[in-house]
Amino acid sequence: MWKPGTVFTTMRCLTHPLLRRLLGLSPQRMPGVLSQSPVLSPKCSPLRQSCSTRPRLVTATDVVNYWQKVFEANGIPEARESSEYIVSFVLGAKTFQSLNSKSLCTPLTAVQQEKIQQLSNKRLERMPVQYVLGEWDFQDLTLKMRPPVFIPRPETEDLVSLVVEEESRKCGKNLGLYFPVPVPHAVILEIGCGSGAIALSLLCKLPQSRIIAVDKEKSAVDLTRENAHRLRLQERIHILHHDVSYSSAKQLLLWGPIDFIVSNPPYVFREDMASLDTEVVRYEDLDALDGGDDGMRVIKTILALAPSLLKDSGSVFLEVDPRHPNMVENWLQAHPNLQLGIRAIHKDFCGKARFLHIQKQSR
Ligand SMILES: C[S@@+](CC[C@H](N)C(=O)[O-])C[C@H]1O[C@@H](n2cnc3c(N)ncnc32)[C@H](O)[C@@H]1O
Repeated sequence: MWKPGTVFTTMRCLTHPLLRRLLGLSPQRMPGVLSQSPVLSPKCSPLRQSCSTRPRLVTATDVVNYWQKVFEANGIPEARESSEYIVSFVLGAKTFQSLNSKSLCTPLTAVQQEKIQQLSNKRLERMPVQYVLGEWDFQDLTLKMRPPVFIPRPETEDLVSLVVEEESRKCGKNLGLYFPVPVPHAVILEIGCGSGAIALSLLCKLPQSRIIAVDKEKSAVDLTRENAHRLRLQERIHILHHDVSYSSAKQLLLWGPIDFIVSNPPYVFREDMASLDTEVVRYEDLDALDGGDDGMRVIKTILALAPSLLKDSGSVFLEVDPRHPNMVENWLQAHPNLQLGIRAIHKDFCGKARFLHIQKQSR
């Protein structure tokens, strides 16, 4: 089994026999290959073995294959994907599939190879690819990623879509009136903004909306602020460093009553925390995931606060565990004073009930 400090994590691995075998290099030629700038000869493809008098130059495909094998040998999950993401990132592309044949066949420079080496060594330490690259895409946005701030998961994109659909439905209804009234711009509150993925996507998709994004972690608030500035969305977002509790209403009502509360709260059941992947345990803030014994610790706080924050008929959109829809329904029935009801339960792309649309009942 691989351990830190063995050949695979250091520059020494470039002279390791495995690498030589994988790249089909002779022992004599090997030392110069990864430190030498590629020289392209019009008559001689760098991949052609017949050009044996020259060092065999290393292409993106060679390096992807090499690191895939190293990752596999060291038990790194998603070995191929990890290798492809790292190599394409260094080549300035989002995916390996988007590289054209010229990029795939052009020998990599020494600088590119060294960068790939550095990033791959991080992956060998089980760092998630998103942190290795320092950025990741969510919907149409590229966001900065930094440990330990929670990495947005793909299913959360559906949560954003549900809010957008509800806002579009409300605006459409309003526009259908005989005497159209001005559509008020939605005020949205995101509880637990992390990197800002949900809040910033909503700002992009709903160009008239304003968002209050709250997180209890300073690292998350800082990253949301950085991402908002990079995307030039800082004018319509108020980012608040605040640990939301039952008594938070006053701090969160800075723009008056709210149309939508949206949250992907910590909802992992305490007993499930032990089975999280090594990548998550080593690098992500576990408080961002731990929802307490029933996974409902923050969910209950949000629901208890919602009636005093929402406009009449305002909505809460939550991402939850598939066990939660029933639990939330029972909890709301046991708290009729909150006057909240589940309006819809939506499934994720795996068919699991993962999103709750809860509505404040009009008086
Ligand atoms: C699962 S992460 C979601 C992050 C981001 N919204 C996303 O979907 O990528 C939950 C976030 O909620 C924050 N959080 C947990 N409890 C909170 C509380 N009581 N008040 C404010 N933020 C909280 C955590 O710090 C974490 O950033």
